[in-house]
Amino acid sequence: MPDMPETPAPAPESPERQAAQTLKTLIAERDPLGIVFGVTDEEERYAAYDEVRAIDPDMARSVAGWIVMGRDACFELPRDPRVGKHMPEGMPQATATRAGAAGRVFQSMLNMDPPEHSRVRRLTAKAFTPRAIQRVRGHVERIANELLDGVAEAGHMDVVADFAQQLPIAVIGEILGVPTHDHSRLLGWADIMARAMDVSARADLLLELERVSGEIEEYFLAIFDQRRDQPKDDFLQAMIDARDEGDRLTQEELVSNCVLILIAGFETTVNLIGNGLRALLDAPDQLACLLEDLDRVPQAIEEFLRFDTPGQMVPYRAQAHFEWRSHTINPGDALYLFLGAANRDPRAFGDPHRLDVLRTNAADHVTFASGAHYCLGAALARLEGDVAFRTLLTRCQDLRLADTPERRATQIVRGHARLPVSFRPELKTRP
Ligand code: HEM
Repeated sequence: MPDMPETPAPAPESPERQAAQTLKTLIAERDPLGIVFGVTDEEERYAAYDEVRAIDPDMARSVAGWIVMGRDACFELPRDPRVGKHMPEGMPQATATRAGAAGRVFQSMLNMDPPEHSRVRRLTAKAFTPRAIQRVRGHVERIANELLDGVAEAGHMDVVADFAQQLPIAVIGEILGVPTHDHSRLLGWADIMARAMDVSARADLLLELERVSGEIEEYFLAIFDQRRDQPKDDFLQAMIDARDEGDRLTQEELVSNCVLILIAGFETTVNLIGNGLRALLDAPDQLACLLEDLDRVPQAIEEFLRFDTPGQMVPYRAQAHFEWRSHTINPGDALYLFLGAANRDPRAFGDPHRLDVLRTNAADHVTFASGAHYCLGAALARLEGDVAFRTLLTRCQDLRLADTPERRATQIVRGHARLPVSFRPELKTRP
């Protein structure tokens, strides 16, 4: 009898298909992770968070770890020494998802634990002084006005492409010593990095990320070389020259700091401006309240940061066994802190789904995280927001939506792809 032909082995499923299948199952089972990552219409995101909150207002157990949505939990957990970024020692570490150049450029302080983190942060913080930040203010004001000069005559613009993206990229370009003619390269790099951050990032995007990481590395190494021969008096130089008892940042650490500043400081600030303006245009009474007195802008910025948070989630890991209120947390447990959900915790913020530019405790938000990794650029982000809104609201009268806004499909980075508005340019001429 002839041999029976062997049944061909099933083709191995691609990791993307497997991930999509797992997500489908989680959605079907209404697992908290499935609920938050199964959102297909970004306008529905906060309703999905409320669904998880109904399971547990502080932290809901999911197959992948804890989905943390309580404001106090998001504030307290990152300050707890039993919480960090890595798996506890002795437990299998997560396999590196990024090798090569992408791996090197992503080795930033954001993914470090003490004492390594404390060292890099201390040295980097020497460049982020209040004086250095204030020095940028004049530059931000000039750029904001130039951008609006460019669209004033037309009386309409896409706030994202024409203003919200251009302002932070000019600021990051300035602090990283990148000349204006290369800002469009920074924009392209930042876009790929933001999209690659999502859980649903596809393999071709990760390959693209590897390619641009090599480019970024080469680009910044060349800038550092130039600075060795021709030092300048600016922010980048302060980072290069930072010393602490003879210690200094290595070339690799400097490159990963530049990448971190680009990732952490660009897209987030774009979305502070875009999400804030969208929220105002959806609530004309709040826009009117702000227009009555532009000195309300700093408080309104805190409310924008709370109301529609630019970075929705930050991941942490439990390093030890401990209890948080009634929850038992085990070493190695993943803690997904949903900052955007925490900022709508009804126990911390009354009527949380309402934009209220006069909200007195808006600054209790956790948008810049908390603890060791608290955003190093928070003061700069607030300054950019302040200048952006004062300039927009002064120079663009009768601001209104000109077409339906379009949200970005990204789930961690929360923002808009398009925000078309119309306005009347201010009448008075500026000096
Ligand atoms: C609205 C704008 C911004 C938001 C919402 C934001 C948010 C955050 C958050 C949530 C973290 C902590 C992440 C974690 O715990 O894993 C963080 C860290 C960081 N941010 Fe920001 N950020 C903003 C703007 C900026 C800007 C403008 C810069 C610099 C130019 C910057 C630089 C950094 C750095 C260097 C860290 C890492 C700190 C560390 O790991 O110790 N950020 N940011």
